[in-house]
Amino acid sequence: MRCRMCGGSIDGEGMDLCPGCALQAQDPQVLSRRRFLGWGALAVGGILGIGYFGAGLTLLYPNMASAAGRLQDIGPVEAFPLGQYILQDYTGEGYEDGVYVMNRGHGTFIALDFHCTHLQCPVQWIQSQEKFFCPCHGSVYNQWGKNIAGPAPRPLFPHLIRVQDGRVLLGPQLG
Ligand code: FES
Repeated sequence: MRCRMCGGSIDGEGMDLCPGCALQAQDPQVLSRRRFLGWGALAVGGILGIGYFGAGLTLLYPNMASAAGRLQDIGPVEAFPLGQYILQDYTGEGYEDGVYVMNRGHGTFIALDFHCTHLQCPVQWIQSQEKFFCPCHGSVYNQWGKNIAGPAPRPLFPHLIRVQDGRVLLGPQLG
């Protein structure tokens, strides 16, 4: 007969544990090899699971991860005339991006990503018409970035923007 814990041979009849494993099984302070391996596998699985869950969240909500850490100072409030979009460089997400920023007055700003939501061409703001135009396939957006003509499926993506101590801070794309 074989011990059910260690697999060693057992001489006695009706026993399923060898003497060494029987002693170990009676002492609650001693962690058996099987239990140790079981808990170890559970711990490793848990750590991997948490890692995958975190990676999944980052993929689903890329801008949620550290939005505050990627704010970029783009100048004083006075550098932004009321009601006019100014194209800014934004590198807070690890690559260069273009963002249209407009001072709406009373300390409020709007920031819109310059990529067309159809196939990502850079849109152009035409002040005289107060609209964004995409040169690639003719999409048009109103001054708030809402798609109003052409194949664009949705509005321009907004960016996080805030004013702090008289400075304008631009953050990552939202949504
Ligand atoms: Fe802008 Fe197609 S990429 S309309």
